[in-house]
Amino acid sequence: MIFDILRGKEGICMERLQKVIASSGLTSRRKAEELIKQGKVTVNGIVVKELGTKVSYEDDIIVDKILLKKETNKEYYLLNKPSGIISSVSDDKNRKTVVDLIDTDSRIYPIGRLDYDTTGLILLTNDGKLTNILSHPSNNIEKTYIAKIEGILSKENIDALKKGVMVDGKKCKPVRFKVRKKDLEKNTSLVEITIVEGRNHIVKKLFHELKHEVIKLKRESYAFLNLGNLKSGEYRMLSIKEVKKLYSLK
Ligand code: URA
Repeated sequence: MIFDILRGKEGICMERLQKVIASSGLTSRRKAEELIKQGKVTVNGIVVKELGTKVSYEDDIIVDKILLKKETNKEYYLLNKPSGIISSVSDDKNRKTVVDLIDTDSRIYPIGRLDYDTTGLILLTNDGKLTNILSHPSNNIEKTYIAKIEGILSKENIDALKKGVMVDGKKCKPVRFKVRKKDLEKNTSLVEITIVEGRNHIVKKLFHELKHEVIKLKRESYAFLNLGNLKSGEYRMLSIKEVKKLYSLK
C-alpha cells in the first residue's frame, strides 16, 4: 500500500484501484483486477500489481496504455449533515452517506469526517488540491463545535482545557472554548470549542479524558464558513470567492 503511506489518507477520498478503474467505465471491475495482476496498470508512473491498493481520483492512472480521464469541473458543497449519516463515499452496510444527500453526478467526497451521530457543517468536493490544503495539519484550519456534555466543568477541567489535554498520547489544545450554558437540573453543559485538529472523534475523546462524555455534537463552523440558514440535510454550493478564500488558507 505504498500510495497510502506516501500521501497520508486524512481528508482525501481513497478508493480501491480496481474500483476507480471500473467507475471510469473503461472496464469491468473483474477485468480491471486482471489487468492489475498482469502489471498493466500504473499509478503516478509506478506499476501497481497489488489488488486493493488505495488511490485517489486525482492520481494519474494508466490502464493498458490508456490514461483514465479525470474530472475537470470542480464542485464544492457545504452541507448541514444530519445525524445518522456516514461521512464517506460509500458504506459496507449500505447506510446513507453524505454524498447521497448531494444531487450531482460528479465523484465528490467529504473533506474530513464527522461521526455518524455528529451533525453540522461538512464540505464536499472533487478538488483534491483543496482537500490537501484543508486537511494538512500545518494549515491550522479552525473548526468550531458545540458539544453537549454530561456534567458541569470544574475549575480543574477548565485549566486542563486551557493547557491542553493528552489524547491518545498527543496533546490537544483548543484554540478557544467557552461554556455557553449550564443545566444544573439535568447536569449537562453546552460547550463551544474551537480546535484545529483533524483526528477522528477528537472532541469526544477530549471530553472523555475530562470524564465528561459528549451527549451531542454539532460542527457550527469550518474556517470562515458557517451553517447560515441551512437546515439539517440542506446544502449549498460554495461561491468562487469562498473557494478562493479557502485556497488562501495555505
Ligand atoms: N470530534 C468528534 O469527536 N466527532 C466528530 O464528528 C468531529 C470531531
